[in-house]
Amino acid sequence: METKNIGLRNIEVADTRISSIDGEKGKLIYRGYDILDLTKKSNFEETAYLLLHDELPSRRQFDDFKQKLAAERTIPKRVQENMGNWRKDADPMDMLQAFVAALSGYYDEEFQDKEASYGRAITLIAKVPTIVASWERIRNNKDLVHPALELSHAANFLYMLTGKKPDSEIEKIFDICLILHADHTFNASTFAARQVASTRAHMYSAASAAIGALSGELHGGANYEVMKMLLDIETVDNVEQWIKSSISKGEKIMGMGHAVYKTYDPRAQVLKELSRKLADRTGDPWFEITQKVEQVTIDEIKKQKGIDIYPNVDLYSASLYYMLKFPMDLNTPIFAISRVAGWAAHIIEEKFAEAAPKPALYRPKAVYVGKYCGPQGCEYKPLDLRAEAKID
Ligand SMILES: CC(C)(COP(=O)(O)OP(=O)(O)OC[C@H]1O[C@@H](n2cnc3c(N)ncnc32)[C@H](O)[C@@H]1OP(=O)(O)O)[C@@H](O)C(=O)NCCC(=O)NCCS
Repeated sequence: METKNIGLRNIEVADTRISSIDGEKGKLIYRGYDILDLTKKSNFEETAYLLLHDELPSRRQFDDFKQKLAAERTIPKRVQENMGNWRKDADPMDMLQAFVAALSGYYDEEFQDKEASYGRAITLIAKVPTIVASWERIRNNKDLVHPALELSHAANFLYMLTGKKPDSEIEKIFDICLILHADHTFNASTFAARQVASTRAHMYSAASAAIGALSGELHGGANYEVMKMLLDIETVDNVEQWIKSSISKGEKIMGMGHAVYKTYDPRAQVLKELSRKLADRTGDPWFEITQKVEQVTIDEIKKQKGIDIYPNVDLYSASLYYMLKFPMDLNTPIFAISRVAGWAAHIIEEKFAEAAPKPALYRPKAVYVGKYCGPQGCEYKPLDLRAEAKID
């Protein structure tokens, strides 16, 4: 009998206090706070603190956390020199995964200790943007831009990437993007992080596994694929024909559909408005094209399959990031810059949760549907007596 639990859909594997999704109502909650409220009132640093510590910080705690994050932004010169040895066309996600894992070679890892893990979390959240920005500068043969301690997390990343300090509107837009992407319960990358953490492997190892999971096009890689699609479509007038033809070929429209949300993803709502706002400022056509992609996909899937489909977080982040002038292949690493806060919180929860039931080493069961030659097992023939193997 084949498994019914494909992709672990709806299987509860652990308790978490970090975030929750109501897929029917389209709500995302971080530690009890509605994401929509946080995007209006909070900032990335405060949200990261909340995710890690289960409470909003006092003024003193906030200032201290922000200062620690800023102080940890630099990465070892040897890491940057090492990046210079990579192929300039290497995928930034591969580079990020490798150098996050490599951080353990530069920093001690007291991974059995909860307090030390909070320190590692700060190191990780602070350094991921620097790794991404450094790679962007190195691969374009540009001088590195050192982190500016006085800038916010959002502004500093934009500064390290371009060498220019962003204006307050752009800083705020990007800060909201970081809040929106910071956590999302047991998505594929977070689950990968927790699974590795459940073996008691250290934080950098668990985070690098998460980066590998995020890189795939059905997860974080979707926003890159969305932008490729928009560029291919080119104009609003081409949308209808392009989308209908893709759906009729059985292809998935990237940025549409979600495994949990059965209504509008709340993050997509906010990103849609930010994309609209930026398009008004820049005059770019990408918001309008994306909006049409949304509408045609909804109509076409309804017509063909009779089901409702909605945009996910990647649909409008693609056009937004393009208008922010991020190189397209940095879309997913930029997702990681934010999500690393959630990963770190989940890694700590996975290792140190005190309330019962405590997390255990993940070890799901598989349903074997392979070769069966009877109760004695298959006969092992000597190498020279075997026929040519049939392989797919
Ligand atoms: C995210 C995703 C994997 C969710 O999958 P899911 O909840 O398992 O949904 P299903 O694949 O069961 O979809 C149900 C039906 O809608 C269709 N569908 C779902 N998303 C679709 C999309 N983006 N484009 C076209 N059709 C889609 C499926 O083909 C399926 O039809 P079928 O029953 O005839 O096979 C899927 O929507 C997808 O691949 N989206 C595009 C990639 C993407 O944007 N990923 C980022 C997620 S945050």
